[in-house]
Amino acid sequence: MRSFSTIKSSQLMWIAAGTLMVSGCGQTDSASNENAGTAAATEATSGEIVRASFNDDGSVNQPVGWREWVFVGAPLTPNALNGGEAPFPEFHNVYIEPSAYAAYSATGEFPEGTQIAKELTLVRTNNNAENGSSQEVSGVGYFQGEFSGLELTVKDNERFKDEPGGWAYFSFGHKADYEKTATAMPTDSCNACHAASADDDFVFTQFYPVLRSAKPN
Ligand code: HEC
Repeated sequence: MRSFSTIKSSQLMWIAAGTLMVSGCGQTDSASNENAGTAAATEATSGEIVRASFNDDGSVNQPVGWREWVFVGAPLTPNALNGGEAPFPEFHNVYIEPSAYAAYSATGEFPEGTQIAKELTLVRTNNNAENGSSQEVSGVGYFQGEFSGLELTVKDNERFKDEPGGWAYFSFGHKADYEKTATAMPTDSCNACHAASADDDFVFTQFYPVLRSAKPN
């Protein structure tokens, strides 16, 4: 229990320092989670969750270093299979902030403050066939090209008490240079679909093998 808490506070320091060491924490977390009992689980959910940063006008700042968060899955909706324009083009690379991942691994629940980012990436362009696939050295299929968008969801029942489940959804746009801040989207635009179809607390864990295997039985 003591070592768990030590790991968490040093992890927070690394994140605060804005270094790239966060990804290295994943292994430490899963190692310590193997023997994480109730006490560790309680610690992981009591105030050690790395929070999103908000401005006075209620907007959220672009997360820092989300590509070093824990990668949980990459659903794919190619434009070519969606009438030329998928609602969310095309690869959806999903990452959860590491302290929230640690808490989820220990408790099976997304703690208050959980941040999950989804970065959209277009299918690689390389003599694509009609179905959008391309032939590469490993075979015919879909390969990642350029980044095309960034979205974020934050669970905060205090700040977003009117949002079902306390989950607010943000989009930083689809331009190569993402917006630096974003305001919460209307409930019907995002939350409603998550509420209706996501498997676990508004999160689409049915598409994230990493989260399914992290969840304690
Ligand atoms: C029609 C249903 C639907 C709507 C509307 C929707 N989403 Fe999602 N969202 C999904 C699905 C399905 C996933 C699972 C991953 C994937 O396929 O992209 C997902 C995943 C996500 C994730 C990753 C975390 C998670 O909950 O699984 C984020 C972040 C996200 N969506 C943001 C948004 C934002 C922002 C909006 C509004 C602009 C939005 N979503 C609207 C269906 C929807």
